Amino acid sequence: MTTTALPTSTHPASTIPATIPPTMRAIVQDGYGDAEVLRPAERPAPRALRAEEVLVRVHAAGLDRGTWHLMTGTPYAVRLAMGLRRPRQPVPGLDVSGTVVAVGAAVTAFAPGDEVYGIGSGTFAEYAVAKAGKLSAKPTGLTHQQAATVPISAITAVQAVSDLARVRAGQRVLVTGASGGVGSYAVQIAVAAGAEVTGVCSAAKADLVRSLGATHVLDYAVDDLAAVADHYDAIIDIAGNTTLSRLRRALTPTGTAVLVGGEDAGKLLGMGRQLRGLVVSLFSRQRLTLRLPKEGAADLERLTALIDAGDLTPSVGDTYPLADAAQAMRDLVAGRVRGKVAIVVGG
Ligand SMILES: NC(=O)c1ccc[n+]([C@@H]2O[C@H](COP(=O)([O-])OP(=O)(O)OC[C@H]3O[C@@H](n4cnc5c(N)ncnc54)[C@H](OP(=O)(O)O)[C@@H]3O)[C@@H](O)[C@H]2O)c1
Repeated sequence: MTTTALPTSTHPASTIPATIPPTMRAIVQDGYGDAEVLRPAERPAPRALRAEEVLVRVHAAGLDRGTWHLMTGTPYAVRLAMGLRRPRQPVPGLDVSGTVVAVGAAVTAFAPGDEVYGIGSGTFAEYAVAKAGKLSAKPTGLTHQQAATVPISAITAVQAVSDLARVRAGQRVLVTGASGGVGSYAVQIAVAAGAEVTGVCSAAKADLVRSLGATHVLDYAVDDLAAVADHYDAIIDIAGNTTLSRLRRALTPTGTAVLVGGEDAGKLLGMGRQLRGLVVSLFSRQRLTLRLPKEGAADLERLTALIDAGDLTPSVGDTYPLADAAQAMRDLVAGRVRGKVAIVVGG
């Protein structure tokens, strides 16, 4: 009698081309902490792909507050998913723009040589793996450095402005954190929808926010958001440090506030303020809602359409070579960044 072994997978394991060197330049972190935990190192290059994965030669990586959360391991809920004592993925970095060098057995959307942008894992390195469903063709009008700054921040912005606040032409929209990564995209997306946008930022970056299309700019150190009551149809609260009662005072009686950001929203879950907003919403005609992270290729395609139409342009304040990723992180945390920063990895 003969026996036939059952296949363990519907797809054969994908091999990495022999042209990929065994090691690569990368940034690594051996534990959670501030930017001092980031150091340049030589790491083994990825050697295997799952069926739905793509290997990307990284031209540029983006830096955002999500990468900061993963670096610091805060809120602590992050560690449940990423590793209790140290990150299981020691190479940080999520946003990526680069060239496909290999695809998993089930990937049909991409082929080696394609220029892509999106969200991967360990993108502060010469090679990074990404799920095919989190990549899209790079907008042809953007450099890799520009494209790498788009994915997480701009997806957050388009979901907050278009899907959650449902901003329409003629509405008055307030964007807090308007000079930052998410805010620099949110202002442009609301302006493109035909809204009259007020941006809130530091005085030093008022010119940037005006250049993004905001009609009015408020200085958070001087101006009181709630000074004009019943005024805004939508508030995209990215800075996340205004009390809910002040946001509600500034909103119209049926307005919507999308609570996107805030680093002080609780060390355990990081969402205390957003959850309070949901509860308040139950008893009010105003809607206070939150944005849960969920990103995919369809969102990237929406952004590409806005970019191609000239409605959305990355505001890249600075670029840093890969070895200076820790300095880029310090500058982001210290508020020295105007809009977004890119980490330049390969040519
Ligand atoms: N919910 C989600 O899915 C999601 C996704 C992405 C990001 N986020 C969160 O959104 C927030 C912003 O992220 P980001 O990447 O845009 O950060 P960022 O690039 O560092 O921008 C921070 C913004 O906040 C402003 N700001 C700083 N201090 C302020 C103060 N005291 N009062 C008012 N505004 C102040 C900054 O203005 P100046 O630079 O002009 O001082 C800047 O515009 C973070 O909390 C992040 O975790 C949430």
